[in-house]
Amino acid sequence: MKKHNHQQAKRPTTDKRSNHQAKRPAVSYIIKRNGAYWPSKEMKKIANISDPKIYEKAAKDPIKFWGKLAEEGISWEKKWDKTYVEKLPYFEWFKGGKLNFCINCVDRHLDQPNKTALIWIPEPINEKPIKITYGELHNKVSKFANVLKQNGIEKGDVVSIYLPMVPQALIAMLACTRIGAIHSVVFSAFSADALKTRIIDGKAKILITSDGYYRKGKPEDLLKKAKKAAKRTTVKKIIVVSRIGKKVRGRKFLNFDEELEKADDYCEPEMMKSEDTMFLLYTSGTTGKPKGVIHDTGGYATQAYWTCKWNFDLHPEDVMWCTADIGWITGHTYAMYGPLLTGATTLIYEGGPTFPNPGRWWKIIQDYKVNVFYTAPTAIRLFMKENPSWIKKHDLSSLKILGSVGEPIDKKSWMWYLEKIGGSRCPIIDTWWQTETGGTVINTLPGIGPFVPTISGKSFPGTEHVIVNEKGNPVKKGESGFLAQKSPFAPGMLHGVHNNHKKYVDTYWKKFKTMYDTSDGAHIENNLIRITGRTDDVMKVAGHRLATAEVENAIHDNKKVGDCAVVPMPDKMKGQVPIAFVVLKKSKPSEKLEKKLIKYVDKKIGPTARPKKIFFVDDLPKTRSGKIMRRILRALLINEKPEGLSTLINPDSVEKIKTIINQKIPTSNK
Ligand code: PRX
Repeated sequence: MKKHNHQQAKRPTTDKRSNHQAKRPAVSYIIKRNGAYWPSKEMKKIANISDPKIYEKAAKDPIKFWGKLAEEGISWEKKWDKTYVEKLPYFEWFKGGKLNFCINCVDRHLDQPNKTALIWIPEPINEKPIKITYGELHNKVSKFANVLKQNGIEKGDVVSIYLPMVPQALIAMLACTRIGAIHSVVFSAFSADALKTRIIDGKAKILITSDGYYRKGKPEDLLKKAKKAAKRTTVKKIIVVSRIGKKVRGRKFLNFDEELEKADDYCEPEMMKSEDTMFLLYTSGTTGKPKGVIHDTGGYATQAYWTCKWNFDLHPEDVMWCTADIGWITGHTYAMYGPLLTGATTLIYEGGPTFPNPGRWWKIIQDYKVNVFYTAPTAIRLFMKENPSWIKKHDLSSLKILGSVGEPIDKKSWMWYLEKIGGSRCPIIDTWWQTETGGTVINTLPGIGPFVPTISGKSFPGTEHVIVNEKGNPVKKGESGFLAQKSPFAPGMLHGVHNNHKKYVDTYWKKFKTMYDTSDGAHIENNLIRITGRTDDVMKVAGHRLATAEVENAIHDNKKVGDCAVVPMPDKMKGQVPIAFVVLKKSKPSEKLEKKLIKYVDKKIGPTARPKKIFFVDDLPKTRSGKIMRRILRALLINEKPEGLSTLINPDSVEKIKTIINQKIPTSNK
């Protein structure tokens, strides 16, 4: 076979090496003016984008704008024929264009083969971190792509990946993209059942997992869950990363690193159509069944590249640490793909944030001179309760940008993050986006500002969001409403729901028809967007997305349960926690039963889904048509006056539930 030299693939034309070095003095990247923070001169000087006119320019012709960005940032084998084609509810970017995603992340940076692509920090402190250069990454990815091929994986096949934060996760994902296989990554803390449903829905032929991982100083078994999940599914082979030294036997199993070593180190990259599916990622909706969000290749690559470059002002010499797990979209786009697309260095960490002590994260930033740090408000709140000396001990002067994602960030946490971690020097980029949007779509840009606590900012150049009422008409300035995205839709947006056209239409297009329904609420403050949270039955527990219906389904599995409703309750640490209201058929409520149900939910879905409390009640508030009024339960939990009592068939239930809540949760804890 003719070997292509993809090192020749065009470097992004925007790839100007900036003159700031990884180790720089503690420069101040922000200044305070009129009660808000703005980029300082230094920030403006180094910023990849600092001209506020970019918003207007992009808005004039967003399709042309994205076309130019795609051309400058991404290497294409063949240029597209049409930049954007829309036939709602579907739309395609760069139609007719051809590219390989792996070339864009790896091969085109091979002019600097010794540059570090990935830094991996294992949890045990006596284990050595691993650095993988772009040259090594190319070699490993090519080899592993051949392993996949030898095991029957072809373009368009689905590969399930159930791995912790280890380098092999990145290698496996990139190997899929090299040969055009579709990866479906499942969060390693999810249960066997959760993995099984995703394997079945995607008809995955291969499962890549590990024997375990280290968490809070202990080895955790992963293989047991993986084996259970793969039983009686389409999975023919399980490729296992040996992490905790467990013996793995059986014809179905292959050892990841041994197979990789044996494989040929040349693998011809498969040229994909821009609109070909690159990966599936399952996420929670309003029903109990998670949906497989489809992401394409060219549009996703373009948005991942430019959002990384502009939001985080990522330069090729920067080290970016996004703390999200690869099981989530943030892990895909900003822990793995975005930094590699831009030719920077990404850092990933295997373990618990406070192991062996609350200084671990800050030591990592110091030791590896992290420039861009991206995490979730829930993690920030976790560290706020620790002794500040754990932070002060470490030199965090390498930091340039701080990012926040996953849930609204309150002012107190925002200020703490700015002052304690950023030394009041670094902008906080509060990025609003979703699994469905593939990359960020609303935030402030570091070279432009302003950085205001609790405000996400503006729609990313070339995208437009509006705040509307139920009917899709814009609300008055400052009023709260539903957040919707207008056409042309961002290039990284989902391309459907796997095997479920109806769900795609019902979830995202039914309400506003020609606008994408985000299911989030928002309002405008000083021309900037402030996100107020989900408007549907989706919770954000420690930043993790979870449907109330998923937890309800698990509780319903117990024969003693007659009826059940789950609602989120605000929580100081996790943002929200699930609370269950359960009506028993005949049995008497007991602490034992409460514990049993909680344990079952943990096993069935995963630890994030564990209800914090179960209230056994006689009846749930319902409308005449039988709909449970979860809104009323939410209000009762926070001691607010519930609205809509007149629509209930059983208004008496509300007072009774209120009494039960008040007995169990003292008012001061609410
Ligand atoms: O409610 C919004 C919230 O997280 C939801 C999307 O969750 P998921 O698909 O898991 O993706 C999370 C990471 C991109 C949104 O509908 N959300 C995300 N970022 C923010 C946020 N809420 C407020 N502020 C944010 N910055």
